[in-house]
Amino acid sequence: MLNNRRARHFFVCLRHILKYRFCHMYAIARNLLFCLPPEVSHDVSLDLMGAGERLGLLKFFSPTIDCAPVEVMGLRFPNAVGLAAGLDKNGDYFNALGQLGFGFVEIGTVTPLAQTGNPQPRLFRLKDEKAIINRMGFNNKGVQHLVENAKQRRYRGVLGINIGKNKATPEDEALSDYEQCMDAVYPYADYISVNVSSPNTPGLRDLQFGEQFTSLLAGIKVKQKALSETHGKYVPVAVKIAPDMSDEEIQSVAQSLLDHAIDAVIATNTTVSRELVPNSCHRDEMGGLSGAPLVESSTHVISVLSEALKGQIPIIGVGGIMSAADAEEKIEAGASLVQIYSGFIYEGPSLIKEAAEAISALG
Ligand SMILES: Cc1cc2nc3c(=O)[nH]c(=O)nc-3n(C[C@H](O)[C@H](O)[C@H](O)COP(=O)(O)O)c2cc1C
Repeated sequence: MLNNRRARHFFVCLRHILKYRFCHMYAIARNLLFCLPPEVSHDVSLDLMGAGERLGLLKFFSPTIDCAPVEVMGLRFPNAVGLAAGLDKNGDYFNALGQLGFGFVEIGTVTPLAQTGNPQPRLFRLKDEKAIINRMGFNNKGVQHLVENAKQRRYRGVLGINIGKNKATPEDEALSDYEQCMDAVYPYADYISVNVSSPNTPGLRDLQFGEQFTSLLAGIKVKQKALSETHGKYVPVAVKIAPDMSDEEIQSVAQSLLDHAIDAVIATNTTVSRELVPNSCHRDEMGGLSGAPLVESSTHVISVLSEALKGQIPIIGVGGIMSAADAEEKIEAGASLVQIYSGFIYEGPSLIKEAAEAISALG
């Protein structure tokens, strides 16, 4: 009896110490990982995390997040902070990532067929700017691989699946790629996000404008309706947009989203602008810039969307969140939820709890 109590006490103390030390451990681990080329450190850290989860060790690092759940798109989110798309493109690691405290995890972007993406190097750290440039080009193992992973779900938070089109698919056949992905992921996704904003697939961002956008949205809605009847459940669809738009373009996007009753908008993807990184040696690398320099332009997009949407469609705010205060600003600009990617790399998992609790305290 006494031994049992002692053992329990020992594990409770160990858990507290591990959590307390986690921030410091992350700083050390990040410095070591930053000695490796970016793509290698990405793969190594995810492999380690995945192994930690399978061995049952990662749960010792799971934070206790003191906040109320949030209801958005008819879904109940344990907290308002999610992992943005692109970190776990194939859904190989979402069970592990979920244990770090994310209220939701978005996996993908996945395309109907596997593709290798752009040649390496294609990922660059701008350490001084706390930023990343990537031109990965939707490297992924194809939607069927992701679906097999999604079937092995242990993660209890909300799972989003982000879908895109293959590079080889002509723009005027893009809808067919999105439909194929919807067919495959619908039974396993809590929400689906439609990526029309990556700068690394030629022509993809043109789908955000004019007739191409409206006919894509119309097609996606038809597909969503058919699938909801087939599967007897309604899976919300979010559309992810770019930050590189004028206010008039953002307003026009908002109107199209309203016209087609899209369930949410994710703002924003990476930017092609290099205005805020003039001194980086990587500034001339092609691709999308994310992290701290993106924070203001993405918040601006959220503000313009919020005014145009008048609360009729929820906004998921993403772009340059490096602190709890950045996350609060996104909510104050009109977002209902936020996502992080670069901030997770630079600041570590402690950012999840800090941001979630700060948002919850806003009430
Ligand atoms: C290396 C890398 C890969 C990404 N891949 C994707 C992707 O496949 N699909 C997508 O919708 N967004 C992708 N993104 C964009 C992020 O989801 C996010 O919108 C963007 O990085 C801004 O957030 P952040 O400043 O917190 O990083 C990627 C970002 C990075 C840095």
